[in-house]
Amino acid sequence: MEGSGHGKACNMLESLNEMSARQTIFERPIVLVGMMGAGKSTVGRRLAGRLGCGFLDADRVLEERMGVSIATMFDLEGEAVFRDRESALLTELVNANSSVLATGGGVVLRDANRALLNDRAWVVYLRANAIDLWIRTRRDTSRPLLRGSDARARVSELLTLRAPLYEAVSHCTVDTGRQPVERVVDQILQQLQSRESI
Ligand code: S3P
Repeated sequence: MEGSGHGKACNMLESLNEMSARQTIFERPIVLVGMMGAGKSTVGRRLAGRLGCGFLDADRVLEERMGVSIATMFDLEGEAVFRDRESALLTELVNANSSVLATGGGVVLRDANRALLNDRAWVVYLRANAIDLWIRTRRDTSRPLLRGSDARARVSELLTLRAPLYEAVSHCTVDTGRQPVERVVDQILQQLQSRESI
């Protein structure tokens, strides 16, 4: 079909859809939420590429500013201080209208963060089941909350606690499952361009 009239028309329609998605989207930053291992950074970078806009990963920004890893922040200052830093940075980045923003999995824990996100951003929940999340994170030692021998049960526990918070804060939900990044990005764009669903 490529190169045929039908193929070209489909491509044009796709471009038009993406242009209208862009207009809707640029009114607010797009913020990706979801569990550790859901693919927020990978999907966010690709989404920003498709939209031709900037991408920031809040955890990486924090690490750059602090000059240490998230794991070291947890070790030195504890989780509560990390959550304060995370909230302050979230407010700054959302207000600066960073176009696509990936957040840490625990950003939804605070009411104030959820209120800010719901009001000021388009929030996309990247949903995955506990098994897939565990498979994706099991070899990664950089996540302090998943250290220890029973990371599998921990993922499950965190997902149970947080799933209602992700659902509550988000304007749309896309299953990441095992589908290719490009397909996930397509689904986000489709949902964002249909203003009824936002
Ligand atoms: C956390 C998720 C991490 C990071 C920190 C805490 C969480 O980010 O913010 O380790 O509470 O779920 P990712 O979701 O990018 O792994």
